[in-house]
Parts: sequence; structure tokens; C-alpha cells
Amino acid sequence: MDKISIIGSGRVGEAAAHLLAQKSLAKEVMLIDVRPGIAEGVALDIQECAPLFGFDTRLRGSTELIDIADSDVVVITAGKPRQPGMSRMDVLGENNKILLAIAKGIKQFAPNAIVIVVSNPVDILTYQLWRHTGFDKQRVIGQAGVLDAARMASFVALETGFSVQDINTMVLGGHGDAMVPMTRYTCINGIPIAHFLDEEVIEKIVKRTREGGAEILALKQTSSAYDAPGAAIVEMIEAIHYDRKRLLPCVALLDGEYGHKDIAAGVPVVLGANGAEKIVELDLEPTEAQALDKSLSQLREDLATLAENN
Ligand code: LAC
Repeated sequence: MDKISIIGSGRVGEAAAHLLAQKSLAKEVMLIDVRPGIAEGVALDIQECAPLFGFDTRLRGSTELIDIADSDVVVITAGKPRQPGMSRMDVLGENNKILLAIAKGIKQFAPNAIVIVVSNPVDILTYQLWRHTGFDKQRVIGQAGVLDAARMASFVALETGFSVQDINTMVLGGHGDAMVPMTRYTCINGIPIAHFLDEEVIEKIVKRTREGGAEILALKQTSSAYDAPGAAIVEMIEAIHYDRKRLLPCVALLDGEYGHKDIAAGVPVVLGANGAEKIVELDLEPTEAQALDKSLSQLREDLATLAENN
């Protein structure tokens, strides 16, 4: 890839930029931030790691959206972060305004890019980005499921003692308290998790996954998670860069899949050079389908609240 831009040079953007450079996934990583000097400072700091890690990626920083021009991928991490005790919805109004300005810039300056939305509430903002750019829905994806599934896999590893290399997890629905960690599809090298853990422990893992972001925020107080979110972004970009056709949970625009349309939510997606190339529909059991419907109803309510206030 020639160029990847990250709009929002806070900690998530910085973590992603650093990993992208280390993995040499683009010739150029462009960081953008409205706060003067921030993106330039972050870019320079990472650039100075190049001799230590041996990467040739060039990093630049700017306050201007025009500098995303000709990007292959644009990542959006800009927005107001949650404070302890706040839900992802509490930042919706403000982050929606920020997102609309960014959508306009992307449409104008990087009309061919694949866009990965990370700012919260990610499902709603992914939908809004799609609506306001009019881009093909394959090219508008949100990052949440890769992070949530990684969190779940980490908790499974901690509870079982097995290597994460053998652990597979899948999380569907919105990136909120109603997300749907799919225990039926959680396996250790193909062996269902129920073979190793009793129901009580599995329930504990599900709850901890749902509350994964809040757990870190409550511990750190002054910052949300950023290392795992940054790594999750890079996992998605790697799949796009190498056209890997990875099957990953991503926020995608639904057009009838899972019985829903005109909404974006976490579903299994085939991720390749063209973005979200296909949504994979699973045969859900009634309780799973109910949980997914509940999570999506919550997203619909949130979208309706947004429509009322704008
Ligand atoms: C989290 C935030 C980034 O889950 O949504 O950590």
C-alpha cells in the first residue's frame, strides 16, 4: 500500500500508526489531528523509532484533512473519549458532529479509500459515515469485533491456560453492553470451549468481554484502552493489504443479512483487498438470534435519538 491515513492522533491512532510502521504495511502513514502540533509530534516520535526497528515507512503529521489525499485506507479514531462511568453513547452527539466533518473531507480528498471507523459509538458512526459519503458499503467498515474477540480469546487463555494461538472466538452485534459473544463458536483448536470450562466460567468470560472496554477505563481512569484497539485496527489493515480473505467480526452495513437493513453492526465479514467483501450469515440458535436482535434494537434506538437531535 502506498498511503494509510489516521484521522485522530490520540493514543489509539498513535498505537495503530506505530504498529503499521513496524509491520511496513504502507510506504506512508499520514496522521491528522485538529490540535496543532499533535499529529506532527506523534509522527516524528514514531519516525525516530525507524532505525531501531528497521522500517522505511515515512510518517507525517498535519492538521489538514486535505493531506489524506490519495490514501488507500483511512482510519478514523478522532472523537471525544469516554470518561469513567460514561457509556459509549454518552459521546454520541459530539462525535457524530466530528464524524460528519470528517466524512465530508474523506469524500472530497480520498474518494477511493477503504474507511475503517473506530471512534465510538462505532456502529452508529460507521452507519453515519456510509450515509454521508455514499461510498459502496464494502468500503465502509467499523472496528470493534476484532478487539472484542481478542479480548474474549485473552480471557479464555487466562481461564484455560491454553495458548492463544489455538483459541478462536467470534463476537457479534453492537460494540456495547448488549454485544453477543458467541460461546458456541468459541473453540480451542476446533474443540468447543464447553469441553474445558463449566458454564459459570464461560458466563464470566462473556460478561468480562462485554465490559472489556469499561474494565480498562475504570482501572486507568484517565484513558480508554489503546494498545489492543490499535492492534485490532492493524489486524484489519493487514487483511486488506495482503488480500487475505480473513473471516473477522467487523462492523458492516447490513442489507437484509440477519434480517436487518439500513443499520451497521458487528457480523462475520470476509476482509480482503476490496474491504468487507462478503458478510457471512450464520445459522443462529433462537437465543443467539434474540440476543443479536436485542443488540440491534438498541442501535436502532440510538440512531433514532440521533435523528431527533439533529
Ligand atoms: C474499548 C473502547 C475503545 O472497547 O470502545 O476499549
